[in-house]
Amino acid sequence: MLPSIASLALLIASASAHLLPPSEHTQETLQGPVQDEDYHIPTIHESTVMARRIMHLSSISTLITTFPAPSLHSILSGNASDDEQLTTWENRPPEMAGSPIGLMEYYADCEPASGNPTLLAINIASPYKNYAAGSNISMHIRWWPTQTNSYLSSLFSSSREEEDIPTPHTPAALPRFSLHGRLEPISAADLARHVVPACFMAAHPDSALWQPGNDIHTSQYMRFVVEHIYWFGGFGDRARIGWLPVDEWRSVTRAEVEAMRLPGEEKRRKGWGGRDWL
Ligand SMILES: *[C@@H]1O[C@H](CO)[C@@H](O)[C@H](O)[C@H]1NC(C)=O
Ligand SMILES: *[C@@H]1O[C@H](CO)[C@@H](O)[C@H](O)[C@H]1NC(C)=O
Repeated sequence: MLPSIASLALLIASASAHLLPPSEHTQETLQGPVQDEDYHIPTIHESTVMARRIMHLSSISTLITTFPAPSLHSILSGNASDDEQLTTWENRPPEMAGSPIGLMEYYADCEPASGNPTLLAINIASPYKNYAAGSNISMHIRWWPTQTNSYLSSLFSSSREEEDIPTPHTPAALPRFSLHGRLEPISAADLARHVVPACFMAAHPDSALWQPGNDIHTSQYMRFVVEHIYWFGGFGDRARIGWLPVDEWRSVTRAEVEAMRLPGEEKRRKGWGGRDWL
């Protein structure tokens, strides 16, 4: 027999009351029932290791930069630089100067001793052009183990793997973070010492097409030197939200990254389940 509209509405109402997340922006008292007895808010160190593991397992980021103002030189002389010719070509409205733009960018975790992610910069891509023109830069990375978008799906789900996710099973409950810092070219010696091209291509096989020296674009390997880390661990009643010390970030060891398990990762996965280090 089909449930009546009224009983369905009641089910959804009680489900939402149970599953609606507490405010994301406070570290205040618990607002919902917590089932796991051994649960605690991760420490700063644990949160930092989680962030380093997310950086290791993921390989897709969003790079955020701001558009430069047109240079005075080009306004006065009408002599446009390459960048300004490109600006004309891409039709950028002048009022975009100073406005931030976030675009997806590949990265790889190729220098784990320092925790600086590696980018393969194509010189004509907006983030690198903006950075070269004086923009600040930040990099957003997130953890999303399963493609689930709704609260209700977790109500009716019975799979083991999903039960491991301790909060309402939605992207909003999962950790993400923002790295702030600067870009610097990776020297030929460091490229060789850290096997950077092989590491990057293991994470991104299609990047073979725009490796340095290709016929289409000028590209080079860049190191994103991490200077500040903003961590958003999930809902404020059970995750840490705030800035993490960069010294913690840099001192995380490979063994700690390997031992950490993130929400939704299989707990008893044998051996090192992620991508191998080179
Ligand atoms: C434009 O500027 C470049 C240097 O930025 C200079 O070499 C060139 O002569 C200039 N061209 C004109 C037409 O002013
Ligand atoms: C970059 O950020 C610093 C603060 O870290 C700020 O003082 C500076 O104005 C910013 N630069 C631009 C181009 O927005």
